Order: sequence, then C-alpha cells, then structure tokens
Amino acid sequence: MKFQEIKNNIFYCGLNDCDRRIFDELIPLEHGTSYNSYLIKGSEKTAIIDTMYPPKTKEYLKRLSENQVGKVDYIIANHGEQDHSGSIPALLEKYPNAIVVTNPKVAENIKSMLFVPEEKIKVISDGEELSLGDKTLKFIFAPGVHWPDTMFTYAKEDNMIFTCDFLGAHYTFSDVFAQESKELENSAKRYYAEIMMPFRMMCKKYTQMLKNMNVDMILPSHGPVHKNPNYILNLYEDWTADTPKNLVVLPYVSMYESTKDMVDYLSEKLESKGIKTFKFDIVDDDLGDLAMSLVDAATIVMGTSMVLAGPHPMAVNVAYLAAVLRPKAKFASLIGSYGWGGNLFGLIGDLLKPLKLDLIEPLQVKGKPKAEDYQKLDEMAQKIFEKHQSMGIV
Ligand code: FEO
Repeated sequence: MKFQEIKNNIFYCGLNDCDRRIFDELIPLEHGTSYNSYLIKGSEKTAIIDTMYPPKTKEYLKRLSENQVGKVDYIIANHGEQDHSGSIPALLEKYPNAIVVTNPKVAENIKSMLFVPEEKIKVISDGEELSLGDKTLKFIFAPGVHWPDTMFTYAKEDNMIFTCDFLGAHYTFSDVFAQESKELENSAKRYYAEIMMPFRMMCKKYTQMLKNMNVDMILPSHGPVHKNPNYILNLYEDWTADTPKNLVVLPYVSMYESTKDMVDYLSEKLESKGIKTFKFDIVDDDLGDLAMSLVDAATIVMGTSMVLAGPHPMAVNVAYLAAVLRPKAKFASLIGSYGWGGNLFGLIGDLLKPLKLDLIEPLQVKGKPKAEDYQKLDEMAQKIFEKHQSMGIV
C-alpha cells in the first residue's frame, strides 16, 4: 500500500495492529492500536521518525521496499520503548549507511535492550537541530511523558511536532488524519489514564508548551495525526486540571451480594444528592473504564468482601492499580462485608496511602447490611457531599 503523504514530503509509514486486544498486558484495547512511523524526505537527507513494534518488523520493512524507500540517512528515536525502537536493528541492516539520532537516555536504552552498536548512534542534546537540506529537525527533550528518555521532534519549516507517546491513542485508521468523534476521545482518554496519568503534572506542562508553540499539526506515535492540535490539547487541559469533577468511583467485588447491596445503596444516596457515581464490578468490568473514571473522580469508595481474614485479592489488585495510576482524587472510603472476622481494609488502606487521600470513616459489616448499617451509609453519603461541596464541585 502506498504511504499517505501528510504534508510536503512527510509521509506516514506506520502500521495498524487491529488484532491487538491488550496493551502492557493490562488494559484492554477496544480498537487495537497503531505504531506510527514517519518518513521525511528532505532535499538532501532522508529521515525516519520512530520505527516499529518487533512482531510487525517484517511487514514494516516490506512496506518500505514497496514504497521504494531506497535510502535512509537518519533514524530518529524519540523513545527507547520497543513498540517504537524495536525495529531499529532491522532498519540498520536494511539501510547500512543510516545512523540513529537520539538523546543520551534513549541511546543507553537501545544499546542495552536492542544491542544497537555505539558507533551507529549520534547523540544529540536538548534543542539541537539537524538539517535534511530544505527541512530542519529540532529535538526537544520531554522527560516524563512517559519515560525519562522521551523527546519530541519538531519539523521547523513545516511547523509540525512528533510527540511520541504523548497525545496518542490506541486507535486504528485508514486515513491518518483524526476524525474527531466520541469514540476517538474515549480511546485517547483510556490511553491517557493508563499511560500518562501517573505523570499528570508533566502532561500539563507539555500541553501548555505545545499550546504556546502554535504548531500546525501533532503527530503522535499511536493513533491518528491531529491537524487541529487544539482538539487533543484541550482534552489534555481538561484531564490534567487540578480540580477533580463531582464524581465518586465505586470499584467493588462482592461474593454474596452483601457488599454489592452496600455499593448500590451508597451510589443511590449519592446520586440523590446530585453527585455522579460510577460503579465498577472488579471481576467482570473492563479495567480501562475504571482507569478512565479515575481521571475525573473526586472520591474513591472501594467495596470488598472478606477472603481468609483479609480483603478480596481482586480488590487488592485494583487498589494497587489505583495507587500506581496516581489519580487526582482527594477523598476515599471503604465499605464491605465479612463472614467470620478479620481485617477487611488494612491492606487496601496501606496500598492507597501514597495517594494521600482524605479518608472518610470506613464501614465493615457482618453478613448482610442492617438498618443501622444503612444509616451509616447515609452518613457516609452526607460526608462525601460535604467534602465535594467544600471544593465547590457539587
Ligand atoms: Fe508506545 Fe512508551 O511506547
């Protein structure tokens, strides 16, 4: 298939992976993903920006041949993770005169992970430029979105920026340009939640930087190219905002419906007070939906049954995930039911500690919740309402 020209001798040479159903062995993918690679033909030199996920290398090289790419001078590596750098060794074999242009951290990563020889790497510094003749590439180090080695490449004359994983989406397409839709927005949010949210403050910083740059196009390494940069930048402005939304997320696991009864009751009470809720069945629901809800939530209430004198292992798993995703939530509580005894919440509380949440008194009941337990849930709903009110979000 012929490479799609994006603008003025800049081509898309990446691939869709429609069959990929999970990323990082963690978050399900609703639309597969794409591994974006870009070919830039300058008047004197040719460069490729980012390469390919290793299992797709053969197909990638075949497409380069089919498109008569006979010469590559530079392979720009914006990031060392293998879904973008994995095909560098194969490209160096195909184009023996090419050299890899990258920053010191990526250089270390590709030497140790891919055995790229040192003499094939040109290490550049932050702000350095590389001429392709009529085009100039400028390298902007962007550590933290999402690896310490991440950088952006800015095509100066074309006013386009290649942002690597930042501002991407797990999404496939036939036309490389973004068709703005709720579906794309959800994919970008799911991607942000899993990959970028732990680095929210860095995302906020680079969102502002790109807004100030007034670029004409944003070209990430997953998902479509944005001809309207403000579409994705405005979404990131919203997701990275410091103030959470009027939303309570209730992830729960319930063995005999008692914990579920408590979750349903609390959710109804909160809704009646004008607070949005998102109930998440830890066993059956899609972890990506939970991650997305954590982008906005002000409060997390975990619900768990007791297993062998402690919280259910599935709840522990979700508490750990919530802690590593570092959402901006401010408040938390715990509810659950036990049969014969134990500590339902200690471990979950410990796992959530790094989030520094303001804890609302938890509620642990024996067996089915009784009238006095429902009253305590009423009180919990009222406390959450007051907390949200204190932030001016309800
Ligand atoms: Fe898409 Fe950090 O790799």
